[in-house]
Amino acid sequence: MNVLFCASEANPWAASGGLGDVAGSLPKALVQNGVDCRVVMPLYGDLKYRDELEYITNFSVPVGWRSQYCGLFSAKRDGVTFYFLDNEYYFKRTGLYGFYDDGERFAFFSRAVLEMLFYTDFTPDVINANDWQTALVPVYLNLYYRHLDKYSHIKTVFTIHNIQYQGKYGLDILEDTCGIGRRDAHLVEYDGCANFMKGAIETSDKVSTVSPTYAGEILDPWFSHGLDGLLRQKQYKLCGILNGIDVDSYNPETDPNIPAHYNADTFAEGKAECKRRLQEQFGLAQDGSPVMAMVTRLVGHKGVDLVRDVAEGLIDQGIELVILGNGEHAYEVFFNDLAGRHPGRVGVYIGFVPPLARQIYAGADIFLMPSKSEPCGLAQMVACRYGTIPVVRETGGLKDSIHDSGDGWGNGFTFQQYNAHDLYEACWRAKEGYWHKDGWPVLVHRAMCCDFSWNVSAHSYIDMYHQVMNLW
Ligand code: GLC
Repeated sequence: MNVLFCASEANPWAASGGLGDVAGSLPKALVQNGVDCRVVMPLYGDLKYRDELEYITNFSVPVGWRSQYCGLFSAKRDGVTFYFLDNEYYFKRTGLYGFYDDGERFAFFSRAVLEMLFYTDFTPDVINANDWQTALVPVYLNLYYRHLDKYSHIKTVFTIHNIQYQGKYGLDILEDTCGIGRRDAHLVEYDGCANFMKGAIETSDKVSTVSPTYAGEILDPWFSHGLDGLLRQKQYKLCGILNGIDVDSYNPETDPNIPAHYNADTFAEGKAECKRRLQEQFGLAQDGSPVMAMVTRLVGHKGVDLVRDVAEGLIDQGIELVILGNGEHAYEVFFNDLAGRHPGRVGVYIGFVPPLARQIYAGADIFLMPSKSEPCGLAQMVACRYGTIPVVRETGGLKDSIHDSGDGWGNGFTFQQYNAHDLYEACWRAKEGYWHKDGWPVLVHRAMCCDFSWNVSAHSYIDMYHQVMNLW
């Protein structure tokens, strides 16, 4: 089975969030299970490991009524072939997204993915596009390539990692920039806008999302950012598959970024050493208090407002807080200020440093993830892998991966309603659990033994690909 995985980011080349983790690890798991899965992504200006890239060829790509250069490079990692599409005008910039012409950049990329197939000997059975940046791939495939032999049998899956970002533009982008004429505009038109994600939902054979719970949630206006009506219509082709994490990379036994190593059976000393070093690094008191951590973008839907409301209360309970992340200015100021007012109890680092994130996963006792919505979430799984007990709100993938330990078998602490009281109560229970000196190691062991590898989910992806291949 041949699968072309299209993503705007993939580890270790260039990543800004969870999509990059998935595009860097799921294809590897698919390859290990016998699928020829290849990944295609833009050749960004700040792409890492550039010297591993091999030039293949170049061709031109229609962008509306214009034609643009596209270079094709490739590289192999862990058995996976990665293709990189090069156009310096669009991609040689600092950062991945957030530019005035993102719509045009990714319309170009999506079209280039299909053009690229003329120049490789690879014919996918399935193209799996991801998020709004590659959402035009199935649209273009249906509009402009279906009549060609090489393309006539390709099936498409579109995976939603976060429905909040849809690629919405004024309708004027369609003809000139996207090359989608008036006759076909209805495919991508939604609520008076050009909406790339809508185009993919309309034209793909299957729409998947990154957890079963989220697949249900996005049928509800509270979660759907306006797309619930369309998704209810297309519910017959919607499904949810829980993400995995790369357990080779996130492995406390071998992770070179952490000061001591441990596994599910030997964690006591190693984890204590990681905690000691973390406390030292953030100038926290080493008096046996539990360390509660958050590694997150500091934005509303991650539940940061709830954490702000309970922070003082947690400190009063004797909990130490460590926060790593950046985002909205008001939250950055709040947490910096909190650290200033509570020296020795609160450590804050505004920014994102991957090795520091790993030191936090390893050194903390409790991990906070009270998201308002969370399509899947990977940090709670990484936290479990490092023996740090998650406190999460029961939404999306958090609900599918973390179960309250109240009944004696779970791997964390959960709460349902999005309010600060309920978060506070769950944190309080976690803290009480921490002081239960016999019970806590049992919980840590159980959390570390959870299998969050791609083993299970890679098979669900393969089943889904088989399903679409047999559709017509
Ligand atoms: C997005 C979602 C996150 C998910 C990730 C990978 O970043 O917000 O919940 O884990 O994609 O699918």
